[in-house]
Amino acid sequence: MDEQMDGLEVTACTRCPALVASRSRIVNGTGPEDADLLFVGEGPGAREDEQGEPFVGRSGSVLDETLLAVGLERSAVRITNCVRCRPPENRDPTAEELGNCRGYLEREIDRVDPEVVVTLGKVPSEHLLERSVAVTAAAGDLEEVRIAGTPRRVLVCVHPAATLYDRSQADTFETTLERAAALAGIDDSAGGQTRLDGF
Ligand code: URA
Repeated sequence: MDEQMDGLEVTACTRCPALVASRSRIVNGTGPEDADLLFVGEGPGAREDEQGEPFVGRSGSVLDETLLAVGLERSAVRITNCVRCRPPENRDPTAEELGNCRGYLEREIDRVDPEVVVTLGKVPSEHLLERSVAVTAAAGDLEEVRIAGTPRRVLVCVHPAATLYDRSQADTFETTLERAAALAGIDDSAGGQTRLDGF
């Protein structure tokens, strides 16, 4: 058997030959399995592949800092990717690779059942909304879409890496995360204190 899951963790998979060749490990989602916010990136980069955790490189630092700025700890949210294995030379995952990994992502979304799914960048936005998306223009837009048969609220967001090259994207990124926190019912009125949900 070449595919195995243990809960939300993919423990073995050999569906994508190019990714099997380029990965050092499978990078699963992290964070509470009942999180109100689920962030979905594109796929692991070099640091993520090394450490086995999503968003631990420069993009991850931007994500962590901006989460804190809107009153959220990283540990309070769930973070995952469209594909769980590092593509060679950090290329975008192909449509076939996205399709191969789709079931794992759908299972994660189903199980976590978040209030809001936040798509970080073009690849996850287009993958989950199933259409082309101009992410900079659409950032902050909320759409309802069926994922694996269940209606889900998807909030389009720029990729954190975009803020490294264009400061104006940093504002867009922070405003979108603020909206995500508000939509998930997370109250920052206590001066940045974090809570997982309202109850
Ligand atoms: N970029 C992504 O899309 N995902 C990661 O895990 C890291 C960087």
